[in-house]
Amino acid sequence: MFKDRVLSGMRPTGYMHIGHYHGALKNWVKLQPDFECFYFVADWHALTSHYDDPRVIESSTFEMVTDWLAAGLDPNQSTIFLQSQVPQHAELSLLLGMITPLGWLERVPTYKEQQENLKEKDLTTYGFLGYPLMQTADILVYRANKVPVGEDQVSHLEISREIARRFNHIYGRQAGFEERATATIKKLGGKLGKQYEALKTAFNQDGNTEALEQAKALVLGAGSLSMEEKELLHGFLTGARKTILPEPQALLAPTSKIIGLDGRKMSKSYGNSIDLRETPASVDQKIRRMPTDPKRARRNDPGNPDDCPVWTLHQVYSDDARKAWVREGCTTAGIGCLECKQPVIEAINAELAPIQARIAEIETRPNFVREVLHDGCARARRVAEETMLEVRQAMGLAKV
Ligand code: TRP
Ligand code: SF4
Repeated sequence: MFKDRVLSGMRPTGYMHIGHYHGALKNWVKLQPDFECFYFVADWHALTSHYDDPRVIESSTFEMVTDWLAAGLDPNQSTIFLQSQVPQHAELSLLLGMITPLGWLERVPTYKEQQENLKEKDLTTYGFLGYPLMQTADILVYRANKVPVGEDQVSHLEISREIARRFNHIYGRQAGFEERATATIKKLGGKLGKQYEALKTAFNQDGNTEALEQAKALVLGAGSLSMEEKELLHGFLTGARKTILPEPQALLAPTSKIIGLDGRKMSKSYGNSIDLRETPASVDQKIRRMPTDPKRARRNDPGNPDDCPVWTLHQVYSDDARKAWVREGCTTAGIGCLECKQPVIEAINAELAPIQARIAEIETRPNFVREVLHDGCARARRVAEETMLEVRQAMGLAKV
């Protein structure tokens, strides 16, 4: 439980574009060697809004996972799976529903926003309201503590933490917990034990979160304790409770947002994206047609990169020297826009070439993606079931 576990999901939207790549996927790939990673296709989440259009979900799943693998997700390092094949997500979602006040769900900003954005859809459903609850179950069922997501998901992570906290508060009570905790503190030794008590008090009386972190680190580093004892003392810090479901933290990606070809957010539904499968000729054409700073109507008019969507691509694809060249050339009309775009075209194509080679290779093995998901789901179910055993018991559900 103390090895950081990463979990993230994406709704099945079909082929991935460079916005997905730079905004999420590249980071997912990077995290693989350092964390125990779980990445999944959130097909139930897709149904919350696309309940009347289910056919695209299945094909999108396979297209998306093919692109994930081509972009570098490695089934030997990460568990890659399909949400709907792990029924424990649904079970935990149902159980957490017992303690989740409606008001918490109604308050999540994306709830009202999405209803506004998708006016043509009836999103006054139970399932749609429960979107963040289901996302909470996705995370907690693996006791994942790090969740790489974009800014738009921060409010979902917040409600996940609140639900986990409430769960631990209600169900984390155990017979003799206090006594066992006291005995374990003794095992820490006189000096460490005193420090632990002082930090615990600083957190509980004064809300000193720094002290909480210090106390956690102290426990983690205590050589005399077993994993279970460490877990016990972690739970004891925030009350006489056991942490059954740890509170997850957002891992905000150090990645850059890629702006779409028209200056809006890159999205397939806006038709402004460059797919990972885009041919070099199409990349060339799309970037050449991309609007630039409107002040540069003529070649001799100077412009400002800050008012140009092409500049956002340079920020991702160019080094400092080239960025300086752009700024200088743009503001003095020393370079033309096509000239400015050329290195971006080349950089995108160079980035996509190896990914596309891997896509082609994967597609020569028609069952490969299915097998990856099959194995991933089996592993995911095993891990999720471990959590559920504890959750069912804590909630008083008998085993027969
Ligand atoms: N809501 C996320 C999105 O739209 C997808 C998602 C579902 C997710 N469950 C998750 C992300 C659990 C992280 C963890 O991007
Ligand atoms: Fe945009 Fe480059 Fe043209 Fe300036 S020179 S407006 S940064 S494309």
